[in-house]
Amino acid sequence: MGAPALAIHQYASLSDAECDARIRAAKEKLGNRLVILGHHYQREEVYRHADLTGDSLKLAHLAAGVEAEFIVFCGVHFMAEVADIVTKPEQITILPDMAAGCSMADMANLADVERAWREIDAALEGEAEARVTPITYINSAADLKAFCGRHGGIVCTSTNAPGILEWAFERREKVLFFPDQHLGRNTAYKLGIPLDEMAVWDYDKPMGGLTAEQIRKAKVLLWKGFCSVHQMFRPEHIDQFREKYPEAKIISHPECSFEVCQKSDYVGSTEYIQNHLRNAEPGTRWLVGTELNLVNRLHNEMKEKGVHVHFMSPMVCMCSTMFRIDPQHLAWTLENLVDGHVVNRIRVPQDVAEQARIALDRMLKIAK
Ligand code: 13P
Ligand code: SF4
Repeated sequence: MGAPALAIHQYASLSDAECDARIRAAKEKLGNRLVILGHHYQREEVYRHADLTGDSLKLAHLAAGVEAEFIVFCGVHFMAEVADIVTKPEQITILPDMAAGCSMADMANLADVERAWREIDAALEGEAEARVTPITYINSAADLKAFCGRHGGIVCTSTNAPGILEWAFERREKVLFFPDQHLGRNTAYKLGIPLDEMAVWDYDKPMGGLTAEQIRKAKVLLWKGFCSVHQMFRPEHIDQFREKYPEAKIISHPECSFEVCQKSDYVGSTEYIQNHLRNAEPGTRWLVGTELNLVNRLHNEMKEKGVHVHFMSPMVCMCSTMFRIDPQHLAWTLENLVDGHVVNRIRVPQDVAEQARIALDRMLKIAK
């Protein structure tokens, strides 16, 4: 029998620099048996070890194409679940810290969504299936993706939400969008749907807090979820910045509020924001409404090119769950793999994975 698995507490006192060296050594030993995927919100000390980086959509595509035996996902739980679903059964997906969740994803659960579906069905006199497409933002648990798979629905990301909504409206007249009300509202409005044809579904209230008449009238039902990081960005931050720098441009993530997105010059995913700033002209100034680790990285990278990048909020707001993936957990995960131990495997139950895959495949076919 080999050595027992290494415990995480053995890594707690290691410095980041020690971990850095050990991560590199373990990666060297594992060679092409391992691929590390990294989301743009990862802290620098982790992000630098990623073989492939991206936003949620790009990482889903990349995961689907990876041949390695081990996929270590430096991101949050729902992203690792997607990687597990789109990879082959013999490939192993690992999340270095199981506590790296997403507070927005946690705002919708299967019991509440199924109850909402029944209540909507009652308001529409048994026609929910024929008239409503459920769309789940990729920031959601696998069983909600499976729900969409079962009910003719689909997954979307911040990149492809407009195309996915169009896809849905070609099939059915209404959409139930969860869990992020802001992405749903910002996207539907961009497609020309007025705000008075959208209604917020409060999952804590019977019938979502709506009357049957309001449900019948709404073209888009928006789950009352939000991202606690992106709600820190306020329209007044933009106003104050523009006063100081009238020539500046504003770029935001679509998880920001409607008011912030309306005041922004550009709105898009983390990959879109990164590419946009990398292509910015020297001398330009940008206010960015998305997570701090990405904005700091872009600030440092772009200052060498004379592009000024500012963070939108006066408060330090980071995604605390993304931040849980630290060099200590990454070193622990990789050294265990070197020793032949798999820790923190993400395994979506097969029946859930099969139905979630239907909704994911619909999305992946539409949007590259
Ligand atoms: P992206 O798909 O734009 O990377 O967004 C993921 C996310 O969680 C943003 O908060
Ligand atoms: Fe979830 Fe918000 Fe963190 Fe993105 S930034 S992973 S939506 S909590």
